[in-house]
Amino acid sequence: MSQAKSLYVCPAEHAGWLSTPVRRLITDPKRILRGLVGPGDTAVDLGCGPGFFTLPLAEMVGEGGSVIAVDLQTAMLDKVRSRAERKGLAARIRLHRCAADSLGLDGERAHFALAFWMVHEVPDAARFLGEARDVLRDGGRLLLVEPRGHVGAEAFERTVGLAATAGLRPLARPRVAFSRAVLLQRP
Ligand SMILES: C[S@@+](CC[C@H](N)C(=O)[O-])C[C@H]1O[C@@H](n2cnc3c(N)ncnc32)[C@H](O)[C@@H]1O
Repeated sequence: MSQAKSLYVCPAEHAGWLSTPVRRLITDPKRILRGLVGPGDTAVDLGCGPGFFTLPLAEMVGEGGSVIAVDLQTAMLDKVRSRAERKGLAARIRLHRCAADSLGLDGERAHFALAFWMVHEVPDAARFLGEARDVLRDGGRLLLVEPRGHVGAEAFERTVGLAATAGLRPLARPRVAFSRAVLLQRP
């Protein structure tokens, strides 16, 4: 049975550290996303924060693709909007405010979804992973990455188990700095 909990959510006022040049040096978004998204794809950035991955995703899907940036905080989505407008990428990015316990993305069928450093903030991971599976088309992939500092090995394996129960098959364990990561696929 899934259990909803009230968890710490990274506040928008602390979002600056998520977009620093130092982070980009250690965690190059395009290196992490290489081979997972391409021109014309639809990608979903779950818990996008200020858009550290949203903007590179928008560049990688090209003019024919689109990115849905999802967050529960309007202030985070506002940051994505202003950065996307500055970079001329706004037309490729749809901003979607979700609820803590529901993504509300019915009817989407994405090629790729990203959940980077956010599942540990979600109150009901089992439900979230079921919804993440539902936004993917058959064969679509979800890259789930959690911060080592907040999520221990056992807790991460529990999340991978919940993903398997939700119908997501583990494909690989990519190496991501300071993180635990798994690449999952909707069969
Ligand atoms: C630590 S930040 C990571 C942001 C971004 N993924 C990155 O790596 O830069 C976590 C983000 O997840 C969002 N978040 C937390 N709980 C969420 C939920 N239940 N649904 C959607 N977003 C959520 C927070 O608002 C915050 O923007």
